[in-house]
Amino acid sequence: MDALENILNRVSARTLAEPFPSKDEMDTVYKAALRAPDHAWLRTSSFVEVKGKGLDKLSDIFVNYGKSIPDITDVVLDKYKNAPYRAPMIIILVNSYKEHPKVPAIEQKLSTATAAQNIMLALNAMEYSCIWRTGKMAFNEIIQKELGLEKNQEILGYLYIGTEIGKKKEIPNLDIDNFVSYL
Ligand SMILES: Cc1cc2nc3c(=O)[nH]c(=O)nc-3n(C[C@H](O)[C@H](O)[C@H](O)COP(=O)(O)O)c2cc1C
Repeated sequence: MDALENILNRVSARTLAEPFPSKDEMDTVYKAALRAPDHAWLRTSSFVEVKGKGLDKLSDIFVNYGKSIPDITDVVLDKYKNAPYRAPMIIILVNSYKEHPKVPAIEQKLSTATAAQNIMLALNAMEYSCIWRTGKMAFNEIIQKELGLEKNQEILGYLYIGTEIGKKKEIPNLDIDNFVSYL
């Protein structure tokens, strides 16, 4: 796929099913992620790949988190339980803060966010789809602990990945003049 066409036509997808990328394809996806801009090459991004039985484990983790919320209803608990099954594969975006005199925490998170965009673009180029979700499951200390992450590690979001089975969303035709100014 032409590089610009890939960027201009990427859309998020909510109805995701198999097939999902192979191991070889994911190796390329992670290489793309690791070509994100990264001040001082701190390498603060990492990725937890979840599929198969991993989705069951993530579902249990979400439910355990839900049970820690006072007065949570069965309906919400059920929503948490089912959340990971909205796609056959999930990448959990992790940022590991590293102390550095010139690179504040926000820059480190921005770097991981750009890694996420590289992942989404690489997947789009391979004709897979995804959506970045956060909600209560991101920036969540309980879930981070359940996943075995350290105190300096934070979940910036979840990329739900697979093949779009619904209708591809129409890309809005935004007027660039509303977004660009010139000095
Ligand atoms: C940091 C971040 C968090 C997001 N969290 C959610 C979310 O929890 N649920 C959701 O439906 N969309 C979420 N979105 C929005 C979708 O990922 C997507 O960008 C949006 O639906 C617009 O679609 P598009 O990417 O095709 O333009 C999030 C986006 C970003 C950048």
